[in-house]
Amino acid sequence: MTKKSNKETTPAIFIIFGGTGDLAKRKIIPALYNLFLDNRLPEKCAIIGTGRSKLTDGKYRTGLMEGINEFSRTGKADKDEWARFSGNITYQIANVNDAEEFKEFGVKIETLKDEWKKNPSVTYYCAVSPDLFCTIAENINKSKIENDPETTRIIIEKPFGHDLQSAKDLNKRLLTIFNENQIYRIDHYLGKEVVQNVMAFRFANAIMEPLWNRKFIEHVQISVTEQIGVESRGNYFDKSGILRDMVQNHLMQLLCIIAMEPPINFEADEVRDRKVDVLKAVKRILPGTIESVSARGQYGPGWVQGKEVLGYRDELDVDPNSNTETYAALKFHIDNWRWQGVPFYFRTGKRLYKSASLITIQFKDVPHNIFNKSEGNIPKQNRLVISIQPDMAISFQLQSKTPGLEMTLNTVDMVFDYSGKTKVDSPEAYETLLLDIISGDQTLFMRADQVEAAWEVITPVLEYWENNRMSNFPNYPADSWGPENAEALIAKDGYHWFNLPEKNKNS
Ligand code: BG6
Repeated sequence: MTKKSNKETTPAIFIIFGGTGDLAKRKIIPALYNLFLDNRLPEKCAIIGTGRSKLTDGKYRTGLMEGINEFSRTGKADKDEWARFSGNITYQIANVNDAEEFKEFGVKIETLKDEWKKNPSVTYYCAVSPDLFCTIAENINKSKIENDPETTRIIIEKPFGHDLQSAKDLNKRLLTIFNENQIYRIDHYLGKEVVQNVMAFRFANAIMEPLWNRKFIEHVQISVTEQIGVESRGNYFDKSGILRDMVQNHLMQLLCIIAMEPPINFEADEVRDRKVDVLKAVKRILPGTIESVSARGQYGPGWVQGKEVLGYRDELDVDPNSNTETYAALKFHIDNWRWQGVPFYFRTGKRLYKSASLITIQFKDVPHNIFNKSEGNIPKQNRLVISIQPDMAISFQLQSKTPGLEMTLNTVDMVFDYSGKTKVDSPEAYETLLLDIISGDQTLFMRADQVEAAWEVITPVLEYWENNRMSNFPNYPADSWGPENAEALIAKDGYHWFNLPEKNKNS
């Protein structure tokens, strides 16, 4: 499949369950609008939002436009463009628990088919609470509305399951109604521009592959830190924790992209096979070793940019005695030829000092130093820093001679900085992902076995943390770098967590 080369000509129908929700307003509709502005949506396209409230099409559209004005990367909606785009949007009240009410979608699909005189692709988007994913799938089936295996798709948002067993059950139920190639399980990290670029960086540059292994790489860090707390999501987060919310999906997917073997082509299943290989090769963490390879934390109160913020246990809808972790650090090994002995460190947490998603590849020392050590000329290790957000850049730290009469070494950066090099505004992850769904490309979506393999990796930690309460929670203040035991986790191996220099601190 050639990705995103031409405008898709097959008409498309999107039915968005949860059409009045936050995700539709913040992400889905702004992404579709921006694809429309880029002339990437098919000429014939219908977006049917659905929810339980009674709304006219006009009222529904106005709410979505406000979402664009607030959240779209392209800023406020242009009056004329919005008028043209929103002409494709209608609203349909429906109770997703009632299969009878789905029949109306069937009528709309048939009407559009007649009008367009061409078979459209039909995408059911489950932007709803996870307990409704199966209900929606089953009611699509019961009501006998469109489900052509060639042209019908279903999008499932995260979280995909609450643990390994529930993920398996969900896969099993979905697969009785849809084929695997109809199911698009979203992990929005895979749609991020720099994450996609890792594939190009690794597999389109001949110089990378010879270095990308245990002979040259000392260790790898995958770090996704956030300044925000749980905001209004206490109800969800307190039952989830950061291990489920971030590690099982986003960080595991980043691990796969860094550690995968070169695929033989860029076909969806080939790429996903190589990612599953990584997850299968992750050395299983034994229950007795969990304390030595992991650290968890929960944020206390503090000050963030001059504003006092609540501790986790005081947040809305959070249990005042909660044992839920808002921070996790983990160390993994991958049992294969490429990565034997190379530690991979994960770190992620909320209410930390800075928001940044970084992958750091630390290379080994030079085998022999020819320079004068007494003059401080000890070459520092090379480091490749892949900065996903907020800065989008890939930089290589190299050793160089400081200009002057002496032979003095210092560290210089070779930087591919998106803000300087590319003029085009990078698309949002959801734009990339929705365009892939329209063109039927599953490369950036998680397959059933991938999701289950990722659950398998974290299950021992999940179970241990659930069964062993922390007596010292909260154990890190807001606006810090997390708990001390996370520093100790990496320091005992002789390393430290890598952060971008201070000038990049975002608000
Ligand atoms: C979501 C998590 O999947 O990713 C959130 O549920 C988290 O808790 C978010 O804040 C982070 O995404 P991004 O794109 O802002 O890094």
